[in-house]
Amino acid sequence: SADRITNICCIGAGYVGGPTCAVIAAKCPEIRITVVDRDPARISAWNSDTLPVYEPGLDALVKRQRNINLVFSTDIDRAIDEAQLIFIAVNTPPMHHHTHVSSLGAKPDLSAVSDCARRIARVSLTDKIVVAKSTVPCGACATIAQMLRDNAQSGVRFSVLSNPEFLSEGTAVRDLLHPDRILIGGDDMVAQDRLKAVYMHWVPEPNILTMNMWSSELAKLASNAMLAQRVSSINSISAICEAVGANISEVAAGCGSDSRIGSKFLRPSLGFGGSCFHKDIASLIWLSESLGLPEVAEYWHQVLALNRFQIRRFVARILADASRGDGSSGLQGRRVACLGFAFKEGTGDTRNTPAADVCCELLRNGATLSVYDPKVSRHHIVDRLAAAAGTDCSVDSVTVCADAYSAIAGSDIVVVLTAWSEFRVIDWEQALKLMAKPAYVFDGQIVLDHDRLRQLGFNVFSIGHTH
Ligand code: NAD
Ligand code: UGA
Repeated sequence: SADRITNICCIGAGYVGGPTCAVIAAKCPEIRITVVDRDPARISAWNSDTLPVYEPGLDALVKRQRNINLVFSTDIDRAIDEAQLIFIAVNTPPMHHHTHVSSLGAKPDLSAVSDCARRIARVSLTDKIVVAKSTVPCGACATIAQMLRDNAQSGVRFSVLSNPEFLSEGTAVRDLLHPDRILIGGDDMVAQDRLKAVYMHWVPEPNILTMNMWSSELAKLASNAMLAQRVSSINSISAICEAVGANISEVAAGCGSDSRIGSKFLRPSLGFGGSCFHKDIASLIWLSESLGLPEVAEYWHQVLALNRFQIRRFVARILADASRGDGSSGLQGRRVACLGFAFKEGTGDTRNTPAADVCCELLRNGATLSVYDPKVSRHHIVDRLAAAAGTDCSVDSVTVCADAYSAIAGSDIVVVLTAWSEFRVIDWEQALKLMAKPAYVFDGQIVLDHDRLRQLGFNVFSIGHTH
């Protein structure tokens, strides 16, 4: 391969591939990047005015670089052929294997990654550096290297690197511009140096860590597992707060100001959602089980179990408080305004959103729902709910509203399901007038001013606080 990288291909134009390549293009003007995907609709969206991914700052970045040194295309083979370095950034969803029904883990489905490896091997006529950007289990890069060797044209050599991505949705551009660290795992130092040279256009050298392949693959899974563990840890303490009269926000500040613990990622909530924490912990559990380490598997399983517990507790609380004394069972005849649906604020993504689980439980208990989220479209909400609902509850009694006030109008209960800051600036005095009385607010994300709401006359419950 050439001494310097001048041409990059990225397979997979999703949440990771698109923003990552836009940043590389902006920071490396002499490199030409082609982002390819097998989904033509995705590619035409990247080439249109409305990008398929919403991220602050992404629009401007893409529109500035597009067709200068950033190209979105469906011609995968040509992009592979022209590149010296190829990122694989396709999705790796969990595979639900039915053979071990008692198993807690799930092996990720690597079929898209394998498809890419076979395709790269078949198409490449020159040496390539192949970089696994997708989150893969330990050992997957070695498997990719083997597949490339097995299917290579004669005389073509491949170097495989592990280069996991740590961006968070909602802050992807900022995270990519100022990464805490870049990991480059592999055993080919020349290839590692070439990829490192790309990042050194904007990342300080000490923040770029080279290591062996397995370390890099495992560090990605372990990072997500530890982040999720912090959320489960603070949420476990929130349950104690409700029982003893402590205030979770005070406890979190009390713990987080110890510099060894740190204040980030201690926000109590309805639990973590998103496309990766569940799947990566399931992958770690599967790995632990397959290595004969059931104690390790059980340890990480508790992080997932606590996450589900948080939702059960929240719904039980709504049932206990708001179905009290009107003679009917459950939430029959109650209208619940659901504020927020995305898995976290700042994004329109609904994958594994705790909001869907809460909504389904409310529906099962007979509630009628009006849902509002500033960034999630009506059909996304309905589709996600229908998928989560299964056969035992119907989404017929769900209305999706265009603003918070129309969701609140006529409701008995408001639940906050995503920590959008705009919910703080709702005119709650006006909201109270629109609601049936007594009016209830259940804040699952601790975003509202509870004292003020109580003064106005709301019955307020919040995760991790006593009345
Ligand atoms: P995504 O679903 O948004 O995008 C993946 C894209 O790959 C899709 O557009 C799909 O059409 C395309 N694709 C799948 N198979 C293909 C093939 N054989 N050939 C060509 N294109 C193909 O997924 P994502 O969220 O970008 O995640 C990608 C990977 O990055 C996953 O392994 C994920 O775990 C990891 N990751 C995601 C995030 C995140 O915040 N979303 C962060 C870090 C790491
Ligand atoms: C997470 C990691 O933060 C990224 O580093 C990683 O690259 C990514 O997963 C991935 O591998 O996909 P993301 O899922 O986009 O990023 O979002 P986070 O900000 O980590 O939030 C995850 C969930 O935890 C959200 O539902 C959020 O509301 C919740 N959360 C987060 C809390 O409940 N409390 C907190 O203190 C922080």
